[in-house]
Amino acid sequence: MCGIIGYIGERKASEVLIEGLRRLEYRGYDSVGVAVNKKDEIEIRKAAGRIDELNEKLKFTEIEGKSGIAQTRWATHGEPNDANAHPHTDCSGEIALVHNGIIENYLELKEELLEKGHEFKSETDTEVIAHLIEEELKKNRSFEEALRKALLKLKGSFALAIIYSKDKEHLYFVRNESPLVLGVGDGEMFAASDVPAFLAYTNKVVFLDDGEYAILSRDSFTVKDIKTGKEKKKEIKEIEWTLEMAEKQGYPHFMLKEIYEQPQAVRDAIYGNAGNIDQIAREIAAYDKIFIVAMGTSYHAALYGKYLLQRLAGKVPIVEEASEFRYEAGNLIDERTLIIAITQSGETADTLAAIKLAKEKGAKVLSIVNVVGSMATRLSDLVIYTHAGPEIGVAATKTYTTQLTVLAMLAIALGKQLKSGESAYLTKLNKELQRVPDLIEEVLKHESSLKDLAEVLKDKRDFFYIGRGVSVPTAFEGALKLKEISYIHAEGLSAGELKHGPLALIEDGVPVVAIAPSGKLLEKMISNIKEVNARRGLIISLGNSESLRSVSDIFLEMPEVDELLSPIVYVVPLQILAYHLAVLRGNDPDKPRNLAKSVTVE
Ligand code: F6R
Repeated sequence: MCGIIGYIGERKASEVLIEGLRRLEYRGYDSVGVAVNKKDEIEIRKAAGRIDELNEKLKFTEIEGKSGIAQTRWATHGEPNDANAHPHTDCSGEIALVHNGIIENYLELKEELLEKGHEFKSETDTEVIAHLIEEELKKNRSFEEALRKALLKLKGSFALAIIYSKDKEHLYFVRNESPLVLGVGDGEMFAASDVPAFLAYTNKVVFLDDGEYAILSRDSFTVKDIKTGKEKKKEIKEIEWTLEMAEKQGYPHFMLKEIYEQPQAVRDAIYGNAGNIDQIAREIAAYDKIFIVAMGTSYHAALYGKYLLQRLAGKVPIVEEASEFRYEAGNLIDERTLIIAITQSGETADTLAAIKLAKEKGAKVLSIVNVVGSMATRLSDLVIYTHAGPEIGVAATKTYTTQLTVLAMLAIALGKQLKSGESAYLTKLNKELQRVPDLIEEVLKHESSLKDLAEVLKDKRDFFYIGRGVSVPTAFEGALKLKEISYIHAEGLSAGELKHGPLALIEDGVPVVAIAPSGKLLEKMISNIKEVNARRGLIISLGNSESLRSVSDIFLEMPEVDELLSPIVYVVPLQILAYHLAVLRGNDPDKPRNLAKSVTVE
């Protein structure tokens, strides 16, 4: 999992590359490296560490040259150290490349190359690619043909950026199951794992597809098919995201900025889909065998989707973690099956694998995605975009609330078609959904009291989050947010489950966050809360009833909202609490340890 970038043009390449890497750091940040094509040779500087500290030491931006490649790494093969940092080279040092992905058959390839006398300098899977190209060049092939032949030997996922010291006029890029997008400038060209890397220079982009490679010169690009070597026609698209949208705008962290963007993001999700949701609902209304697949936070959205589809549309979807889906559930798919895949990045390897399996079996795939042009959108029959804008913080916030929003819209639209008897309620719910952005705004006003609460809780070791019915996914998500950025142990539970085991862990002062919106399940929640009271656990509750306040140690008053839509509002204080706990404990919430924004390996 890494971020890669390449540049060719009239600017100082090293500066463009380092600037781009800063915007790709969310994809990985354990090592950094730059290779620039200079007059007589390729100059490489690389090491383990973060961009800014390394730039002081290695002075990447002092390298002169007008074309180059760079990478910010998140290790998969070989620990994060200087030797394993990219770029990697062949024996001669004439070829340098950076890689995002995993070469599955690298050990076998490496053995063959070692037998032929190649010398390796790292433990990475990536290095074999440079040596493979070198080997093909020995057969008197052009560089392009040598590259293509080498690529045909690779199994796995790879986005690559490559430079060759004997061809300073071109850069080479490859995409196979790892994201890569070209940026088309005026007399300059870019390519990167994600658009913000070069958005300061151009908003004209070309999305590469799997199995394609691109050759860039200063003022042209050519895209070809790896298998055939034949040229492919590609469309240039204009991206509407401004660079400002992808930057922090004065907030100390992207995560906080993105939490505050939620009212607008939810509004955009509603407006962006108002015109197409009925049509999508019509296209899927006839399906009765439905699976919803996703990972992590998106999986929590899937659980919410299941609840709503049951309640509003009478559908009974099976929700599976995409990584588990293939083993058994995958065998049950046929052309009468609908797969709803939820993935903000559209590049999560587990979710893509589930989508591919579903397609192979002839199922219909509807994906709910944030990143336009991402792989999931290209593999799916139908796409609902969440319109959250770029999310840089590793912990999902606005992409989650927008996923919930579009799932609510979909369930309402399906309900209208399938349950005409409930149309008055569905219309009311739809109206209520339009108010949700304002309700989130109200909740955001309480940030300072949540910060004070974080002060009180910052030394606690374990947290429990409980909810019932539609609030169970909120409990799961609250716990996930806390553990991933504050590194405090947290568990999300359905409140009814508490007394079947976990209650044994509740003792004096253990925080239990109860998500308890008013509605038909409130009374039962209060009984569960009393079980915690009896063990002197510390109840922090979210709701708006006096009966809830009376059993709580700390009561967070929430705006009134229909219980079915409450998860979109109630998760927001949990995000803020997790954020402040992370900051108070000295963590960087934007870059939690061991995690990366899009998980492109299985
Ligand atoms: C947690 C988080 C992850 C992702 C998961 C799936 O804050 O962001 O759990 O939700 O890795 O990612 P996507 O939605 O891109 O498929």
